[in-house]
Amino acid sequence: MKPVLLLLLLLGGAAMPAAASTSTCEITVSGDDTMRFDTRRIEVSRQCETFTVHLRHTGRMPKIAMGHNWVLSTAADMPGIAADGLAAGVANDYLKPGDTRIIARTRMLGGGESDSVAFPVSRLQSGTPYRFFCSFTGHFATMQGMLIVL
Ligand code: CO
Repeated sequence: MKPVLLLLLLLGGAAMPAAASTSTCEITVSGDDTMRFDTRRIEVSRQCETFTVHLRHTGRMPKIAMGHNWVLSTAADMPGIAADGLAAGVANDYLKPGDTRIIARTRMLGGGESDSVAFPVSRLQSGTPYRFFCSFTGHFATMQGMLIVL
């Protein structure tokens, strides 16, 4: 009985932080046909091992006209990623293939579609400003927000 109790205690101790933070280690972000995200700021807890973003395109327009993705990078890298993404064009979902400055990204969605992406929180540094944005041509000016690690 004693070893079992010890095991339970160990399991409980290890599982509790993960269980307690489960609900806050993910977020749903929606984009619509007016070129906006419904979220301007995302807080990621250091307690999370991975953080998951669920992107929903709640509009009706097709991907070719109103595509939305969710791309994460440092604030400093965002303009360069967006510029190179424009050059990469629609065939590459407006992201340069193999761009290592991108920390996480969903695929490009059309109206009614959704996608999720999970990334290790260990890739983020406290105190570094991060941005999420849509790389579709012309969208990142309005479709962006900040992500911070707490
Ligand atoms: Co977009």
